[in-house]
Amino acid sequence: MSPPYVVELSEVTKVYGGQVPALRGVNLTIGTGELLAIVGPSGSGKSTLLNLVGTLDRPTAGTVRIDGFDVAELSDRELSALRGRTLGFIFQQFHLAPGVSALDNVADGLLYTGVPIKVRRERAAAALERVGLGHRLGHKPNQMSGGEQQRVAVARAVAGDPPLILADEPTGNLDSAAGAEVLGVLRDLHAAGNTIAIITHDMEIAEWCPRRVRVRDGLIVEDEGDGAGRPAEITKGART
Ligand SMILES: Nc1ncnc2c1ncn2[C@@H]1O[C@H](COP(=O)(O)OP(=O)(O)O)[C@@H](O)[C@H]1O
Ligand SMILES: [Mg+2]
Repeated sequence: MSPPYVVELSEVTKVYGGQVPALRGVNLTIGTGELLAIVGPSGSGKSTLLNLVGTLDRPTAGTVRIDGFDVAELSDRELSALRGRTLGFIFQQFHLAPGVSALDNVADGLLYTGVPIKVRRERAAAALERVGLGHRLGHKPNQMSGGEQQRVAVARAVAGDPPLILADEPTGNLDSAAGAEVLGVLRDLHAAGNTIAIITHDMEIAEWCPRRVRVRDGLIVEDEGDGAGRPAEITKGART
């Protein structure tokens, strides 16, 4: 049985270099199947929060539980195993391997599963289907548009069916039409049951999400909406 929350942060603080307080006591839970935005101005602590939820860093104080595991109780090795099976990452930069087909960019993301290449490619093809790129399996990054490349990155993030997908400014490098295309894919994945947290400073994306967690000066200042709800319509071209 899966735990009630994919993410449970309790009184989490993060202080860099013994003096810069980036997070000052954060409580946050994310339930299975939610779509939420973590939104706030530059310097508010979003990336720090992403790094902690993504198990890329450990808190100074407080508890971080991911998929039921307290990260403080895991070795670095156990933590990277947890990260591999629990989290899918999408970044502003697509981070695709140049000269490698969409199929193998996604299949290589499944290396941690240890399953044979044939099975990885089957899962990769299925994930590319889910993001509407079933007709682009053999295309290399330089043969695809920005929106298509980011959808390959989305396919890579979902291919292993992780309990949580973390997207850090996923439309930050895209024009508004391509951004709407990627948000549409995230909406469809949410409708299919995936849990997705989008870190963004873009208020329009935040308003579009059914739940919004606002961060300011290292604190959550507002948490509104129902992450299990449906996102708003995407108004193509509304974003700049
Ligand atoms: N590695 C670091 N070392 C020192 N200070 C940092 C580091 N990373 C972030 N900070 C500081 O922590 C605060 C929050 O930063 P960050 O989490 O990157 O915010 P955001 O992603 O919302 O822009 C800022 O004051 C930033 O300067
Ligand atoms: Mg940041």
